Amino acid sequence: MAEYDLVIRGARVATASDVFAADIGITDGKIEALGRSLGSGAEEVDATGLLVTPGGVDSHCHVEQISSTGIWTADDWFTATRSAACGGTTTIMPFACQHKGQSLRKVVQEYHELAGPKAAVDYAFHLIVSDPTAQVLGQELPALIKDGYTSFKIYLTYDALKLSDREFLDVLAVARRDGAMVMVHAENNDMIMWMAERLIAAGLTAPKYHATARPMLVEREATHRTIALAELVDVPVLIVHVSGKEAIEQIRWAQSKGLKVYGETCPQYLFLTEADLDKPGREGAKHMCSPPPRDEANQEIVWDALVEGIFEVFSSDHAPYRYDDPEGKLKAGPGAHFKQIANGVPGIEVRMPLLFSEGVLKNRISLSEFVALTATNAAKLYGLYPRKGTIAVGSDADLVIWDANKQVTITQSIMHDAMDYTPYEGRKVTGWPVMTLLRGKFVWRDGEFTGEAGGGMFHECDTPPALAAPPRLPTAFDPVAGKLVE
Ligand code: URP
Ligand code: ZN
Ligand code: ZN
Repeated sequence: MAEYDLVIRGARVATASDVFAADIGITDGKIEALGRSLGSGAEEVDATGLLVTPGGVDSHCHVEQISSTGIWTADDWFTATRSAACGGTTTIMPFACQHKGQSLRKVVQEYHELAGPKAAVDYAFHLIVSDPTAQVLGQELPALIKDGYTSFKIYLTYDALKLSDREFLDVLAVARRDGAMVMVHAENNDMIMWMAERLIAAGLTAPKYHATARPMLVEREATHRTIALAELVDVPVLIVHVSGKEAIEQIRWAQSKGLKVYGETCPQYLFLTEADLDKPGREGAKHMCSPPPRDEANQEIVWDALVEGIFEVFSSDHAPYRYDDPEGKLKAGPGAHFKQIANGVPGIEVRMPLLFSEGVLKNRISLSEFVALTATNAAKLYGLYPRKGTIAVGSDADLVIWDANKQVTITQSIMHDAMDYTPYEGRKVTGWPVMTLLRGKFVWRDGEFTGEAGGGMFHECDTPPALAAPPRLPTAFDPVAGKLVE
């Protein structure tokens, strides 16, 4: 009788701390043993010459969500998770997005109804809090946190979603009291709207003016404000989709003061530039996201910040809106002005291959740093570790087997999402996942998606470990406890 359900033999295994040679023994979807010359498996895979990393954890993506311009993501839960699996990601963390007037509990239930039958990889939810009423702050959020929804995103921009500073403080206080991580979309809404109105009045409506309306100082101001508000409440925050120098400087400053400020960046800030928004006609819309991609010098600054350790996570911010489609980016018409075009780019499938090729193989980051940025840190940050994000005995057998020499030209026809373009069209990379395993089952093997709708499982998140940091109040008054402290 075989000792394991599956044995992966002779692999080079990388975790966030080590790179070593081992066989991996898997039973009942979990890693049961790691070592040399393991006993037999009912199925065996010869991974000689291949690399094995933990299945990716993409902690920022949008699935079956409506944009602020009123269009739906092209991907549903099946196509988004199929695309994730084929790119080596086995856990995604999209958002259950509350719109004003909605009950968060009901929103979460609706997202579960969409995800459950269709997800092909595992998932957890962040909450988007856009309407922090007394009911939401006092009852819904505390109960949802207890039920395993331990992170929420708030917006400082988009009229339909943004919170005032006062509301933001209220949400931060709940996060500290009940144990949740707050993620912040840090751009100053009034600055953007003021600039956008003037640009449009001047007839400057093409996609490239999206970037003119959102210069880096807009992001710098909101990042700085976020850091100060979180310091006042004494609670960790994570600044999502950081685009370049000025926000990085704010985060570096906060981290140097010992404040609990984390950062996330995304492929679009390493591989796209503002010039991509200036393609002929409205083609630049394909590259429109917020914050916008900056210039090449900023790409290098983002790389340097990754190497320096400023960023905890590298997420896709997959926000897939089709281009040549009546329900896509140009729904408002071929002459749509930039404020009418949905923000967001796809990237769930190429997130890991892009960073592997340009980061690891070009010696910018180590293999272990790659694993930390694409899997381990997200699992830790959001309370999924060590179930997810590592290769260890007892962890879920979520694995990516890479051919580190495989040459691939990224093009939409090889993607597995529901999009009609990739912003990385024509980019050549080296290294690609040849197999992905979700809890010991192949979901991507030798060029075929082998997973199934409904094969993914929901995971509750534990309290984020960052919440356990010692207190560090800036005044003698603890505003969450409501009392003076000695
Ligand atoms: O442009 C972006 N990032 N779209 C997705 C929504 C968001 O703010 O993350
Ligand atoms: Zn955002
Ligand atoms: Zn996003």
